[in-house]
Amino acid sequence: MQPPAPTLQRRHFFIAAGPALLAGTPWLGACQPAAGGETYAEAAARIRRPGLPPGAATHVAAVAAPGRTVPPELKPELVHELVRLATLAASSHNTQCWRFAVEGQGITILPDLSRRCPAVDPDDHHLFVSLGCAAENLAHAALAHGLQTELRFDPQRDAVQLALAPAAARRTALFDAIATRQCTRGDYDGQALAPAELALLESAGSAGGVRVLMLTARSAVDRVLEAVVQGNTAQMADLAFMRELQSWIRFNGAQALRSGDGLFSVASGQPEVPGWLGGLAFRWLFTPQDENDKLVRQMRSSAGVAVFVGPVADKAHWVDVGRAYERFALQATALGIRHAFVNQPVEVAALRPVLAAALGLGGLRPDLVLRFGRGPALPPSLRRPVQAVLA
Ligand SMILES: Cc1cc2nc3c(=O)[nH]c(=O)nc-3n(C[C@H](O)[C@H](O)[C@H](O)COP(=O)(O)O)c2cc1C
Repeated sequence: MQPPAPTLQRRHFFIAAGPALLAGTPWLGACQPAAGGETYAEAAARIRRPGLPPGAATHVAAVAAPGRTVPPELKPELVHELVRLATLAASSHNTQCWRFAVEGQGITILPDLSRRCPAVDPDDHHLFVSLGCAAENLAHAALAHGLQTELRFDPQRDAVQLALAPAAARRTALFDAIATRQCTRGDYDGQALAPAELALLESAGSAGGVRVLMLTARSAVDRVLEAVVQGNTAQMADLAFMRELQSWIRFNGAQALRSGDGLFSVASGQPEVPGWLGGLAFRWLFTPQDENDKLVRQMRSSAGVAVFVGPVADKAHWVDVGRAYERFALQATALGIRHAFVNQPVEVAALRPVLAAALGLGGLRPDLVLRFGRGPALPPSLRRPVQAVLA
């Protein structure tokens, strides 16, 4: 099948709402203070403040020292900071489907099953990938604070246990990228990346048996695009998928500030609108053709596509896939490279083998698909307060 000619990404629907909506000043609108007095921009800056001030010595010395044999005393302030940085990770639909508990010598990340998305993610693949994303951030943050991490998946509780032990504090470029990493769902500049940049991304995304296929040839990108368009078309015809997606969309800054989660329209490059109008626009104006056209345009504006493939399709390995993606995304951010998921062909179960065959993956399950390239940033997404995710 030839991908259709270019214009609405399924998670970016307002483009079809036309000039009347687009005439607004979406990002400025999003800056209006909510009831508590904080604007969206202020909340985003507070939530996404950098982990440590540039050049700062860590405050770890008081918490852990290399050579100590006793378990680190995880002081509440340090736990709070590590969890804050962990929650800046990606999660499907920005559900933030995690809870954090201080246990024994470290921090355990538990799935928050009340935040499952059964329509888009019936087997909880994305949920466990999201836990892996948070675990990866936590490991970089812990190291910057003088704690090294040993990760283990506990199949009894489906939990990710991070044992923390004193080590020399190391502040990495990936750590510094945690606060600014974002999924950037805009158009990119169409320019290729340098081979050295591609090599760094590939190496960041491959570990623990997870492979990342870096596709940059037009023909290879178009093969994936074809599956993305088929997946989007199938999803938009699926009432349960559309209902669930709408329930996670925050149509304006006030809604996003109230919930601290979900997909804020402005962070997806769309204007904000009143809640009542958002719901109507979503149902009436969000069409498969417009969305497919936009996917074509955006993928063709990208420098390439990355496909993550884990060695085994189970929860423990989905966590590893999440870690690999998060490392890739932090590395990309450190290099000034943007990325956005186009997961449609891995979310529609019938399309997974089609994509696998097109990429020569044999019986392996393709886990995640994203596009990358250079382009302008979009407003960042929000997070719920740390207190809300502490178990
Ligand atoms: C497993 C997983 C699947 C995702 N799938 C998609 C997707 O198909 N399309 C998309 O636009 N974003 C997708 N996202 C990105 C999330 O929507 C995003 O991480 C979340 O909204 C928070 O925004 P941020 O990553 O910019 O901080 C996915 C994220 C994860 C972890």
